[in-house]
Amino acid sequence: MRPDEPLEHASAPRPPADRVMATSLCPSTLKGAGVTKRDWKIVNPGGSRRVVVTKDLPGERWLRFLTAADCRVEIAQGDDILAAPEIVAALGDRVDAAIGQLTEAWSADTLGALAAAGALIYSQFAVGYDNVDVAAATRLGLPVGNTPGVLTETTAEMAVALTFAAARRVTEGDRMMRAGAYHGWLPSMLLGNLLYRGTLGIVGAGRIGAAYARMMAEGHRMDLVYYDVRPNQELEASIADYAAFLVAHGERPVTCRRAEALPELLGASDVVSIHAALAAETRHLIGAPELAAMKEGAVLINASRGPLVDEAALVAHCRAHPRFRAGLDVYEREPVMAPGLSELDNVVLVPHLGSATTWTREGMATLAAANAAAILRGWPVWPPVAGREDVLPFLEEEKPPHAAPSIVNAVDLGLPQFAAGPPAGEDQQ
Ligand code: DGY
Repeated sequence: MRPDEPLEHASAPRPPADRVMATSLCPSTLKGAGVTKRDWKIVNPGGSRRVVVTKDLPGERWLRFLTAADCRVEIAQGDDILAAPEIVAALGDRVDAAIGQLTEAWSADTLGALAAAGALIYSQFAVGYDNVDVAAATRLGLPVGNTPGVLTETTAEMAVALTFAAARRVTEGDRMMRAGAYHGWLPSMLLGNLLYRGTLGIVGAGRIGAAYARMMAEGHRMDLVYYDVRPNQELEASIADYAAFLVAHGERPVTCRRAEALPELLGASDVVSIHAALAAETRHLIGAPELAAMKEGAVLINASRGPLVDEAALVAHCRAHPRFRAGLDVYEREPVMAPGLSELDNVVLVPHLGSATTWTREGMATLAAANAAAILRGWPVWPPVAGREDVLPFLEEEKPPHAAPSIVNAVDLGLPQFAAGPPAGEDQQ
């Protein structure tokens, strides 16, 4: 079924629930040449507001936010990534909101089509939004939603997992076992790096970078150097508290300092972990000169965005320096890898799994839907207090706040902020 098909075509035999779900059996007949044929799942076909969702999302709670806002939800089926012409065709001539993915290009043209079809919001199923032309959305008067607060520790844990997998050669050992190549314990087999009491360099000390830094400093007593345009006083204070705790227990304290420049951090660190946002000025932040500035046996971790690292330069560096190791969750041209990367033993590779836990992905779905539903209902924006992580009311409360959890251009659009609790007795889902 195509998403702009008349509503009555979407109907299927009614299930007992008040929320009606139907999976179309008809291929799309989308306008425009070269557009993929696709099935769409329609939820609540009688809803008066039309929301296009470009991938099925985990959990059920997100759908309750949308159906309670009287939305007919049209969900693209399939694992392939929707190209811009297909998205534009799916939006059609009338749509109220779209929930999209970080893998899609939400350019000025696509957002223009969204606004022209009457939509009030683009909501991204991700915290990062480098694939969205936010400036264009703002010019069009379109709020852009994202999903902060549910990925912080989850993504930091993946960075920790990659750090240890790379430093302690876990995937090499795994491959050896599966290949039947382990013939007995040897004194010098697969020797890795001890991280305990080493130095950790964080490039970008925002929410995820700071969470990772604390896990590594508090868990493994690593001294911290961070590089960020802004000082992170909260992180510095928490490391100082932890240092005082260590001293009180007769141990050597850990330290924390902000590097003036990136080379200073690169030269000092046993592990360098990248947590910066992708922007024109951070593209290839780590290239051949930066890799050369790192220690010979250092570990480089990237669980933020692939283009921050010049992947071809990384391949060349890892080839030339077998003691150097890298752990990657993200790639410069996802899902493609630079030639040679997958052949390197000193690199650990996972497919963009940073936020991939059930709790987090269901939470992201809930926040993406809550953003769309709230804007469609004319509700204000949850206060964008710096560092705010308090999205639990949207995830757990029976009557979550009458607000959009996170709109990245709320201030530029002059959207009203949430000030008071919800009206008593009214259900919001
Ligand atoms: C995000 O939300 O930006 C993450 O990359 C998803 O894992």
